[in-house]
Amino acid sequence: MVIVEGVPAYLYLDEEYIAHHLGRRQRGYGRGGRQQIERDHAHIQTGVRHGYTLGSPIGMLIENRDWSQEGRNQRVTRIRPGHADLPGAMKYGFHDVRNSLERASARETAARVAAGAVAMKLLEEFGIKLHSHVLSIGRVKANPPDQGAIDWDAVEESPVHCADSDVADQMMAEVDAAREAGDTVGGVVEVIAEGVPIGLGSHVHWDRKIDAKISQALMSINAVKAVSIGEGWDLLDRWGSEFQDVIEPWQRKTNRAGGTEGGMTSGTPLVARFVIKPIATLHNPLPSVDLDTGEPVQAHFERSDVCQAPPAGVIGEAMMALVLADAFMEKFGGDSIPETKRNFEGYQATVGPRLRYS
Ligand SMILES: Cc1cc2nc3c(=O)[nH]c(=O)nc-3n(C[C@H](O)[C@H](O)[C@H](O)COP(=O)(O)O)c2cc1C
Repeated sequence: MVIVEGVPAYLYLDEEYIAHHLGRRQRGYGRGGRQQIERDHAHIQTGVRHGYTLGSPIGMLIENRDWSQEGRNQRVTRIRPGHADLPGAMKYGFHDVRNSLERASARETAARVAAGAVAMKLLEEFGIKLHSHVLSIGRVKANPPDQGAIDWDAVEESPVHCADSDVADQMMAEVDAAREAGDTVGGVVEVIAEGVPIGLGSHVHWDRKIDAKISQALMSINAVKAVSIGEGWDLLDRWGSEFQDVIEPWQRKTNRAGGTEGGMTSGTPLVARFVIKPIATLHNPLPSVDLDTGEPVQAHFERSDVCQAPPAGVIGEAMMALVLADAFMEKFGGDSIPETKRNFEGYQATVGPRLRYS
C-alpha cells in the first residue's frame, strides 16, 4: 500500500500514467527473473474521484506476486553479505533472515515509483519534467551529448537506458560477462529535472536545503553508495574560476553546480548523479556464516538481478520528483491546482523573465 499526502485537488491522475512509470522500472538489461513474474500496477483506492484528486491522501495498492512462488517462503539462515540480512537479524532478534531480506528488497522501490509518478504528474502541471540516463556500467563509460541535446525517446528505447548509443552494446557485453562469471556489476546514473523555478529550498534552514534533500533521497535508494550534485565529483582538479556558473544579464551558459546555489534551486536544470554498487547476491556466492550454527557456509542465493543501473534511474527520477514536489508545495501552497497555479504564476511574473539557461 502506498499513501501520498499533500497533493492539491483537481490534479488529473489515472492509473495508466502510473503504470507507465512502473513498467519503466521493470525493464532494463541485467534484470533477473522476478520481473517476468511481477505485473506492476498501482490500483488507486482513495483520494481520486472521476479521474481528479480530491486533496485527501491518495492510497494505491500494488500486488506482490513473487511471494507465492515455490520456495519463496522458506526460512533463510545463510546470511548474505552486503544486505540487511545480518544487521536486520541482530537488531530485531530474527531467527529467519527472510524477515529482513524481503522488506529490505528493492521490491519496495515499486512503491516509490508509484508515489513518484504522482509527484511527477503534479510537477508536469507546472512545466517541470524529469529524466535519467546511465553514465557507466562497470568499466564501460558513456560519453553523452550535452544535457539539452539528449534524445530522451532514444534513452527510453535503449536497453541500458543510455544516451550514448555507441557504448550501449559494450555495456550489455559487460553485463553478460558478469553474468557468465556468476558475478554482478554496478554503475553511475544521472537524474535531471528541467523547468525547475528559481528559489525552491532554503539557504536559511539546513534541513530544507534542496541539494541536501535530493542527496538524502537518492542515497536512500537500495545499493546507492555515493551522490553528487552537478559536477560535484569532478570539481577537485578545478580552480574556482573554472567551476562557477557565471551570471550574464539574466542567463547562464554553464550548469556545473547542477541547478542549486545556497541550498536553493538556481533556475538551471537540476542535475544529480549517483553510484549504485554491484548487486550483493552472487550466483557464485560469497563466503559467509550460518545464523543457526555460526559455521562458515556459502551465502544464500535466490533469483537475482545482475545489473540494476538501468531501472535505478527511474527510481532516482521518482525520488527527485518527491523532493521537488514537497519543496514546490512548501513554496507555493494551495488546496487546489488552480490555487497553486495562481500562486506560482504570481511568483514567476516577478522572477521568471529575468533568467534563462542556454
Ligand atoms: C532496482 C534495484 C534492483 C535490485 N535488485 C537486486 C537483486 O535482484 N538482488 C540483490 O541482491 N540486490 C538487489 N538490489 C540491491 C539491494 O536491494 C541492496 O543492495 C540491499 O538492499 C542492501 O542495501 P545497501 O547496499 O544500500 O546497504 C537492487 C537494488 C535496486 C535499486
